[in-house]
Amino acid sequence: MRVLVLGPTGVVGAEVVREALADPRVSRVVAIARRTLPLSDARLDTILHDDFGDFRDVRARLADVDAAICALGMAWPQAQSEAQYRMVTCEYVMALARTLVEARPDARFCFVSGHGAAPGSRQTWARIKAEAEEGLRGTFGTSLTVFRPGYIYPVHGREKPYWGDAAMRPFMPFRRALAKYITDSVTVARALLFAALGGTVPSPAGNHEIKAAAEQYEAVRRDALPSA
Ligand SMILES: NC(=O)c1ccc[n+]([C@@H]2O[C@H](COP(=O)([O-])OP(=O)(O)OC[C@H]3O[C@@H](n4cnc5c(N)ncnc54)[C@H](OP(=O)(O)O)[C@@H]3O)[C@@H](O)[C@H]2O)c1
Repeated sequence: MRVLVLGPTGVVGAEVVREALADPRVSRVVAIARRTLPLSDARLDTILHDDFGDFRDVRARLADVDAAICALGMAWPQAQSEAQYRMVTCEYVMALARTLVEARPDARFCFVSGHGAAPGSRQTWARIKAEAEEGLRGTFGTSLTVFRPGYIYPVHGREKPYWGDAAMRPFMPFRRALAKYITDSVTVARALLFAALGGTVPSPAGNHEIKAAAEQYEAVRRDALPSA
């Protein structure tokens, strides 16, 4: 199974790469990034790419990808403008989607959206994420799985500080009670890989479905690992 990861240097994307490389069922991880990844592995193929608005020049390298996981994006407060948020979380995502579907029409696509994404939302970020979801649905149909996690606790830390982590810190002791709103990067990464590898996940998947998928992924991967 060959898995493409977009956004592999971020909290979620890096976790997906780590988990995928620990999974014997994944034969290759193709990571598209604008900078080098901190880890290297014989099964990791990094494509350094400049123009995220156009992926046509890497099309041939996507032809044997079985599934894509898109963790590209940014938090709304980090965006300098609505236009920048739309460009990164919607236009870049659709640019990849168009090239991937041409290269590999039957690829599965797993998209990290966000809790509250909805076309009629009063929040701009939520409408833009819903726009991306809609565009992807039109491109991949039933091969699309949308994930709408709440706050994602970065289990392995975060390269660039994010004020959201400090804002959420007081709630972390209550995370079990707040499971609808708080998840973590390992859980999200495992749920994404479960869907990417062909597991059934309801779409859109909120935190509850994400947790269930992550648990199934762990069980299946444990069985796939060679016995010690
Ligand atoms: N974190 C949360 O609590 C949370 C909650 C719900 C949903 N989400 C969604 O989950 C997704 C991943 O979140 P995350 O926390 O993993 O984000 P993150 O750590 O900020 O990582 C974002 C990824 O997107 C890439 N990226 C951002 N702007 C780019 C640009 N202009 N050109 C090329 N690449 C760009 C980053 O590359 P560089 O490393 O090169 O910047 C990085 O690989 C996002 O779509 C976010 O909206 C996050």
